[in-house]
Amino acid sequence: MDSPTPISLDVLVIGAGAAGLRAAIELAEADRDVLVIGKRKHGDAHTVWAAGGINAALGSLDPEDRWDIHAADTLNEGHLVNDARAVEVLARNAPERVLELDRWGADFSRTDDGEINQRYFGAQSFRRTCFKGDVTGRAILEALVGQAKRLGIPYRQNTFVTEILTTDDGRAVGAIAYDMDTGEPIVFHARAVVLAAGGHTSVYTRSSSRPDENTGDAQALAYNAGAPLRDMEFVQFHPTGKLWPEEERGHLVTEAVRGEGGRLFNTEGERFMERYSPKQMELDARDVVARANYAEIQAGRGTPNGGVWLDISHREDEYLRDRLPRMVQEFADVGVDITSEPMEVAPTAHYAMGGVEVVDFETCETAIPGLFAAGESVAGVHGANRLGGNSLAETVVFGQIVGAHLAQTLPEPADLPTDRVQAALDRLDALEAADGTHEPLALIDRLRRIMWDHAGIIRDEDGMIEGLAKLQALRRDAADLRVQADRTSDRFEQAVNLGFMITTSEAILRAALERAESRGAHYRSDHPETAPEWRKNIRVTKDADGRMALDAVPAQDPTPAVQQALAEDHELDYHHLE
Ligand code: FUM
Repeated sequence: MDSPTPISLDVLVIGAGAAGLRAAIELAEADRDVLVIGKRKHGDAHTVWAAGGINAALGSLDPEDRWDIHAADTLNEGHLVNDARAVEVLARNAPERVLELDRWGADFSRTDDGEINQRYFGAQSFRRTCFKGDVTGRAILEALVGQAKRLGIPYRQNTFVTEILTTDDGRAVGAIAYDMDTGEPIVFHARAVVLAAGGHTSVYTRSSSRPDENTGDAQALAYNAGAPLRDMEFVQFHPTGKLWPEEERGHLVTEAVRGEGGRLFNTEGERFMERYSPKQMELDARDVVARANYAEIQAGRGTPNGGVWLDISHREDEYLRDRLPRMVQEFADVGVDITSEPMEVAPTAHYAMGGVEVVDFETCETAIPGLFAAGESVAGVHGANRLGGNSLAETVVFGQIVGAHLAQTLPEPADLPTDRVQAALDRLDALEAADGTHEPLALIDRLRRIMWDHAGIIRDEDGMIEGLAKLQALRRDAADLRVQADRTSDRFEQAVNLGFMITTSEAILRAALERAESRGAHYRSDHPETAPEWRKNIRVTKDADGRMALDAVPAQDPTPAVQQALAEDHELDYHHLE
């Protein structure tokens, strides 16, 4: 295929969720020539699925809350393998970003005094999670889209990036993409590229993501371009995903249900969190609650569909309709009245703590000069596990930071490497023409089962070795793919997704096998203890032969500003809520 005329810009933002849009807003305000591209229509990014809230130590209801206690809670939840500097930046900046979103129209729920209301979320010492009912992500994205439109920021929809373009000396200068409506190839030439394309939990059979999103695009694009990944073994399983109907399997039952008082029961009617976590109960860390649900189901005390019961029917109907309107409606749509009966729930893959390694969180630059990253694409902020409500905070905090940095300091222009452009376009042609044996979607389903069975909530060495062997066999089958469909087809999109998902899955399995301990969301039945010598971060890099190479670097110590808050030892006591 001949190379199309490149589209030249200052900054290309890949991903149109909260992180990408917030970066673009900062750039547009500084009159930078920025373009945002996404795989879907404007306003239809994965952010809209974030439900329960965004964390910021505003102290609306608990005036004793402070940004440094927010940071301490984040580090405790991350089991002290977070990037401590990033955590400080997150907690310090979240209040300003939330107030800004409110000004831009996010319209957060209010207290009787007109303050932004805040609810309890798991493992947080105070009510810190700001919300709009249970549609907070949608409210935030709509506010950001509105602001982006007011600033005239161009958005190119249905645009799928397949490769980051780098020069021979390893600098990012653009990307190769295709238009999903016309199939046309696109060459972007930019002084800087911002990756804000989300996470990778769609590699699991049961996931809270839409099936064709969170397919590891950002992680695979960065890794293929030469950037290290980090913390890939840490995958968050949300305790409460739906079990049915089939098309909603894995979708989120927001933590806000438990934040508003929801209780978990097994089929023997036992409120089992009393056994697993008598102090924090249903609002303990997500990994603790998810493993408790899983253990109950495995022990034969699960519901007929393989879940546990989540019940909030003791709260008044009116309260539930105000605080959890989406949950009330979604369950009503399938014949369950949550104001009078329980929901059937089970753990679901929800969030990637691991991702692209950022070298400096003050700029969000990766190891590849000119390539920046923000949001769920990135590793570091959450360590071994994430506090609910911190992902939305991360998107806008680091989106603003990368935008502000590039608004001031744009890399010098560099030429596109024409040979590399041509090679990338040829790869697109070859994929379209692939006339092998294996169907992309069948391989994706197989991959998801491998990851669920071998890199799930509970892991062990034998299981992961078996999982890697199965993944290698799948990789061989993927080299014999049958596409034979033009680039506007779902089949072609699945073929691209498959490549990204294989890379991401291999990194998860290899890092999980390497970490011979349990920490946060990474639980190994053969190494159930947390080992102090593993207070490290595992990095995955492509070596000179194109294979995955792993190394581990010591985790940072908490910043002095946060040490004091850690020493104060704040902790949620659930029984205050009842
Ligand atoms: O349960 C939830 O509403 C999820 C929130 C989050 O992951 O931050």
